[in-house]
Amino acid sequence: MKQVNVGIIGFGTVGAGTAEILLENREIIRKRVGLDIVLKRVADLDLVSDRGISLPKGVLSNDSNGLLNDPEIDIVVELIGGMTTAKSFISTALKNGKHVVTANKALLAEHGSELYEIAKKAGVNLAYEAAVGGGMPVIGALRDGLAANNTLKIIGILNGTSNYILTRMSKEGLPYEDAVNGAIKLGYAEDPPTLDVNGTDAAHKLAILISLAYGVPAPFGSIYKEGIDRLTPEDILFADQFGYCIKLLTIAQNLGDEIEARVHPAMLPKNHMLANVNEAFNAVFIEGDYVGPTLYYGQGAGRMPTGSAVVSDIMAIARKIKSNADKTSSPLGFADSEGQTIKIQSIKNLKTAYYFRFMAVDKPGVLSKISGILGERNISISSVIQKGRDADGAVPIVMLTHEAYEQDVTEALAMLDKLDILKDRTMMIRVMG
Ligand code: HSE
Repeated sequence: MKQVNVGIIGFGTVGAGTAEILLENREIIRKRVGLDIVLKRVADLDLVSDRGISLPKGVLSNDSNGLLNDPEIDIVVELIGGMTTAKSFISTALKNGKHVVTANKALLAEHGSELYEIAKKAGVNLAYEAAVGGGMPVIGALRDGLAANNTLKIIGILNGTSNYILTRMSKEGLPYEDAVNGAIKLGYAEDPPTLDVNGTDAAHKLAILISLAYGVPAPFGSIYKEGIDRLTPEDILFADQFGYCIKLLTIAQNLGDEIEARVHPAMLPKNHMLANVNEAFNAVFIEGDYVGPTLYYGQGAGRMPTGSAVVSDIMAIARKIKSNADKTSSPLGFADSEGQTIKIQSIKNLKTAYYFRFMAVDKPGVLSKISGILGERNISISSVIQKGRDADGAVPIVMLTHEAYEQDVTEALAMLDKLDILKDRTMMIRVMG
């Protein structure tokens, strides 16, 4: 074999980046793989928009079916995103005996198991380095580089949009809405950026990382998620006074018989290595039982970083095709993992420290009423800050607690929020140790 032929479905931002890298870096790619990787077809409904790249004549068409059924195409790259059509394209390609590369995190997180089965049965690869962390090679790290280990812990900043918004709120003191509007104007965020700011995008990525770490598809619906949309610049300032920053974290931890899996804003000590991951960057910390701590950092989105990850998958598959060895690989990197299940720990059983901001009336006895209700549920306070009154006469009372159970915290806050001494819903943020 002298060449491997690639067909891309979806000529948007990432599709154009992938095509550009394949064309511009064709020589280094050929030298690394040992054969030519040829961009044979690109399919998209939009045949006229300028993507800043000129494809060889005859490559671009709107004929995705022709691409999926072209016997000369070895690798199909799905970059249209979304669920139904993308799933149908990937299934068809796999059943047609073609290897597939995708960046579609939502599809893999929610319907991955079905596609992994089809790929296994068809004896072809389904690769998805670009689905988590864009150009940051974290999928390859978990599947290959760290393969000798049991994964103990994953802590990530995996949504660049939220990280950009939180960076603007903390560096410029912007309210949430202003920071979101700035992100939309600069093209970092979609309008509205719902799935980014409500934790869904990060939870999709966490589901994929957990599936790889433990070798079975993670039950996406069981992953706890909470977004950044209730955070205020005041919370960021108070966190700063306690020595913390606030990040949207994706956290997984192996607890033995259960996996802790959660996405939410968290207070992170300012000297934590993820605390200085700012702007739209992503980072993930992975700890294995023998390797110890490892850290990955990079651009989690965008035309070229994501295109780089897609092309790395294409090259890995081309190497297998070239070597003519076993061309299949289990999409989750476990040869034999059928029948296992992953049990995700209920958030109620989480034990961690907490930040509370109560907006309370300023009169004698309020602080003792609050601390009494917390104390009844074994929630012990470690620090308190109280600042001056606002225009409504409410004062922020801000507390950090020692470790407590989430169930107790939920019950205590529900009880407190019913009392007329509190003027607004209490802000609760979990604190990383
Ligand atoms: N929307 C994602 C983010 C990028 O903001 O990180 C693509 O995964």
